[in-house]
Amino acid sequence: STTPVKVAVTGAAGQIGYSLLFRIASGALLGPDTPVELRLLEITPALKALEGVVMELDDSAFPTLAGVEIGDDPNVIFDGASVALLVGARPRTKGMERGDLLEANGAIFTVQGKALNEHAADDIRITVTGNPANTNALIAKSNAPDIPAERFSALTRLDHNRALAQLAKRAGVHVTDLKKMTIWGNHSATQYPDIFHAEVAGKNAAELVASDAEGTAWLENEFIPTVQKRGAAIIEARGASSAASAAAATIDHTRDWLRGSADGDWLSMAVVSDGSYGVPEGLISSFPVTTKDGNWEIVQGLEINEFSRARIDASTAELGEERDAVRALNLLG
Ligand code: NAI
Repeated sequence: STTPVKVAVTGAAGQIGYSLLFRIASGALLGPDTPVELRLLEITPALKALEGVVMELDDSAFPTLAGVEIGDDPNVIFDGASVALLVGARPRTKGMERGDLLEANGAIFTVQGKALNEHAADDIRITVTGNPANTNALIAKSNAPDIPAERFSALTRLDHNRALAQLAKRAGVHVTDLKKMTIWGNHSATQYPDIFHAEVAGKNAAELVASDAEGTAWLENEFIPTVQKRGAAIIEARGASSAASAAAATIDHTRDWLRGSADGDWLSMAVVSDGSYGVPEGLISSFPVTTKDGNWEIVQGLEINEFSRARIDASTAELGEERDAVRALNLLG
């Protein structure tokens, strides 16, 4: 039998973890023929709840689940991991300033970056879902000098999927009829969902749904803000933040990174900028990417109109401010 692939998940006893673990264990991440060993990290007070989740994993009798290890020490849990899904983060609580939030998460992602650097397998791929995802990924990357920078990514696939759902509704088609959606920038309310290169059944999406005054108004006043504020709308409706869709997107992102994007299409992933499209080098920003065999490439040569330029610049400026704030806190190694 094949050696199991070690997949580490942090924040495993949380909301997203409760959806994510069962999908990984059932083969949704690595396929039905690859045995997986889950390595689950939590903070000490959550380990008892995590034991309950492990009981449920046992009780699911998944054919592809080879083993489960749990613990509160990243140096142990990340040992030999080929995939790390960094979901656990410190949420913003009442009265917490932005600086406090960055500092609390900095404490988590510096430690985890160092532990990955020391203990992860050579083929490690890292997806950061925990917010502020882009900047947490930057902190982890900066504290893991021996891991190539391109192995770190942050999740904007949920935003990408949300944009697909909104565009499909407007165009009266199924999401499978859509291609080449792009999310640019930060996973925050400044993110820019771009339909100018997207295709609806092979036709340009912007020309199809946003060419007249009514369409332009829809794009500016409905589509973009709906995608940007979807997280808040879910909290308002559900009384809890999006979890199952975030878990599904974490799987989509990491699976497509490992197994490759479809021909004639691309994905949105936040990855380290090489300066493409005027995004300052070194920021972890969302781009249109194609993937193959665990590597990604930023799609080149797209024409960026004035409407898009201003929005990409605004979101990447926010990322620059976040980087400056964590640098001032000495979190960048
Ligand atoms: P949750 O609060 O239910 O679970 C988070 C878990 O992380 C908790 O069980 C907590 O004990 C654990 N944790 C905290 N610090 C840890 C550490 N140092 N090591 C290991 N575990 C630790 O939160 P939920 O709903 O599961 O969300 C997780 C994160 O994902 C949040 O930061 C949330 O904002 C973010 N998120 C990101 C999305 C994206 O698209 N990028 C979408 C939705 C959520």
